[in-house]
Amino acid sequence: MMADGATHDYLWTGRSGPFTILLNDQVFAPTHTSREVAEGITVHPGDTVIDVGSGSGVLSFVAAKLGARKVFGGEVNPASVELARRNAELLGLQDVVEFRLGSLFEPFGDVRADVVIGDVSGIPDEIASISGWFPGGFSGGPTGAEVPMAMLESSRSHLAPGGRLYLPTASIQDENAVLRTARRIFGEGRIRQLRERLMPLPGKISESTVARRLMDSGMVRLIRRGSRLLWELRVWEITAPPA
Ligand SMILES: C[S@@+](CC[C@H](N)C(=O)[O-])C[C@H]1O[C@@H](n2cnc3c(N)ncnc32)[C@H](O)[C@@H]1O
Repeated sequence: MMADGATHDYLWTGRSGPFTILLNDQVFAPTHTSREVAEGITVHPGDTVIDVGSGSGVLSFVAAKLGARKVFGGEVNPASVELARRNAELLGLQDVVEFRLGSLFEPFGDVRADVVIGDVSGIPDEIASISGWFPGGFSGGPTGAEVPMAMLESSRSHLAPGGRLYLPTASIQDENAVLRTARRIFGEGRIRQLRERLMPLPGKISESTVARRLMDSGMVRLIRRGSRLLWELRVWEITAPPA
């Protein structure tokens, strides 16, 4: 683990890769979820894309390499915005990809996008603090649903007619609450599951009293395989109504 914000190279080998970006310990490091979202997104040449919770910028760069005309990345973590801007320059994408500081859609004014990548934090705060996955503590709220639900609430006014929103959900958050919100805002028929994957839960989380309590409450759903606990990751495509 790097200390005090020192940067190191990270080779992205997911969709549109390989390409190298910089990471440091103040910025969310791309995960299997990033890879699954990247696999799921459809970006047409010329599209405008908003990437909410852009972290290192990795999914913004994937969208740019898929042909987006303009990509706006947004982050509450100032260290992410700073590093993502450096990454855009390193990749020669600074004219296409622009990173802005602020919560959810706040930094995007009246921008309407053909594609919204809604990969904001969705892990319950108590689990996130054990995991160390969220530098700066910018995790998903008490149940891990609060930040994605707030993102969904304001997404509609930032999607162009017929635009597509990509949303990862997980069985280690209150996934039903996130999906209920998506259905209420967009309607059941506009939500399509694209991908599903089982992920191992790191031992330090599965052995924690926090995880046990959330499991016992029925809020998170984990699958036991021998001595391991697995969680389910899903990626959804939500299509906004036509004009
Ligand atoms: C799961 S990470 C994904 C980062 C990036 N998309 C990736 O794949 O590596 C979620 C990101 O959302 C950011 N975040 C959390 N709350 C936010 C909010 N209210 N507005 C914008 N970004 C937020 C976190 O700082 C974190 O970098």
